[in-house]
Amino acid sequence: MEKISILGTGYVGLVTGSCFAYLGHKVICLDINKEKIEKLKKGEIPIYEPQLDEIFALDKESENIEFTIDYTYAIKNSDFIFIAVGTPSCPDGSANLSYVSDALKTIASCITENDFKVIVNKSTVPVGTGRWAAKLLADELLKKGIKEPEKHFCIVSNPEFLREGKAVEDFMNPDRIIIGSDDKDIALKTASLYSTLNPPMIITNLPTAEMIKYASNAFLATKISFINEMANLSEKIGADIEIVSKGMGLDKRIGPYFLKAGLGFGGSCFPKDVKALIHTSKAYNVDPSILNAVMKVNEKQKIKPIEILKGAGIDLNGVKIAIWGLAFKPDTDDTREAASLNIINELLKHNAVIFAYDPIVKNLPIQDKNLNIVNDKYEALEKCDVLILVTEWNEFKNIEFKRFKDKIVVDGRNIWEKNILKKYTKACFSIGR
Ligand code: UDX
Repeated sequence: MEKISILGTGYVGLVTGSCFAYLGHKVICLDINKEKIEKLKKGEIPIYEPQLDEIFALDKESENIEFTIDYTYAIKNSDFIFIAVGTPSCPDGSANLSYVSDALKTIASCITENDFKVIVNKSTVPVGTGRWAAKLLADELLKKGIKEPEKHFCIVSNPEFLREGKAVEDFMNPDRIIIGSDDKDIALKTASLYSTLNPPMIITNLPTAEMIKYASNAFLATKISFINEMANLSEKIGADIEIVSKGMGLDKRIGPYFLKAGLGFGGSCFPKDVKALIHTSKAYNVDPSILNAVMKVNEKQKIKPIEILKGAGIDLNGVKIAIWGLAFKPDTDDTREAASLNIINELLKHNAVIFAYDPIVKNLPIQDKNLNIVNDKYEALEKCDVLILVTEWNEFKNIEFKRFKDKIVVDGRNIWEKNILKKYTKACFSIGR
C-alpha cells in the first residue's frame, strides 16, 4: 500500500482521496481552506455525493485518511502527490492554471536532495500541461540549488472520468484507467495504485493521456448536441426522437449512451472542457468546427422551452411559470452551467414570474423579485399556468397527473408519456417528439 497526498479537497480530490483510502492506501488530504479541513476532520462532508459518506466513515475507522492544511507535512509524508485543484475557465475559454502552478510551486518548496516524488495530475488541464509542469518544477528546484532536478520527481497524468452523482461508483468500477508519463516505470508504479480494481489500463505518454480526457468529454458532448439537433428535426417531421435514439443505439458502433435528447449539457466539465479544447485547437491553428457547432447547438438547446412557448403563441409577459429541477442533472446539488439558469434568465427578461422547485438546490446565483424558490413541487405548480420540467429527478417521474389539469406543460427531458400528458394538460410539449 502506498503513501498518497491529495492537494485540493474539492469534488475530485475528496472522492479520489476517500476511494484510495478505502482501497487501503494511506492518504493525506490537503487544502488551503482551514474551515473545510476542520469540518472534514469532524467527519462533515461538504458536497452531496451518493455513497461517499459510507466510504468516508470506513476510512475514518481504518485511519487510512487524514486532513491537514500543513503542506510540508503532506508532501514529506507521501510518495505520490495528486494535484486535484480547480482549473476554472478564463473569459476567452482557456483553462486558468494558476491553482495548478501554485500547487507545483508548493511541492517544489518541500522537495529536498533526498526525495523522489511522483506528481500525478488529476485536474483537467490542457494538452501540453504535463510537460509545462515538469519544466516549472525543474526550474523551481534549480532556483533552490538542487542540481539535476529531474532526478527528484516525475510528472504523471491520470485524468478522472467521474460523473457527479456516480463518482464513487465510477471510481470503483472504472471503464479504463489512463496513465500518461514520459517514464514508463513510474507510469506502471502509478497504475499499481489501482491494481485491486483490475481495470483496463492504457499506459502512454503525457500529451496522449491529456488528449484522451478532452477527446472523451468532447465526444460525449458531441453526441448530446447531435441528438438534440436530430430531435429538433424529428419534431418537425413527426418522428419520435426517443425511438430514433433507441434505434440508433442498437447499432453497436453507435452505442445507446449519451443519446438522450433534452435541454443540452451543463455541469462543471463538458462546457468548460469543450471550450478549452476549442481554445487549444485555435492556438495550434486547427479549425475546431465540430466543437464550435457542439457549443452553439447546446446554448440554443438550453433555452428551447422559451422557443417552444413563444412558438405556441404564449406571451410570457407576467405569466406565472413553475420550474421543476434546478441542478444541472439529477442526484447533485450542482447548478454550474445548468439549463435552469439560462431558462430563468431568459424568462426574467420577458417579465415572467417564476416559482422554482428542486429537491436539493435551494439557492441560485440569480436574484430577482420575480424569482421565487419554493419548498414543494406542487406549491410551485399550483401557483402557475405553465410548468417547465428542467431536471429529470426521480421524484418527478411518478406524480399526480390530475394536478396538471388546465396547465401548459413543457417536458424538457421527455420523462412523461406523451399520451398521459395529452390527457391531463391544457397543452403539452416535449423535445423531439
Ligand atoms: C461528465 C463526464 O461524464 C465525466 O466522465 C467527466 O469526468 C465529467 O463530466 P458530469 O458532468 O457529472 O460528468 O455529468 P454527465 O452525467 O456526464 O452529464 C452531463 C450533462 O449532459 C448533464 O447536463 C446531462 O443532463 C446531459 N446529458 C447527458 C444529456 O443531455 N443527454 C445524455 O444522453 C447524457
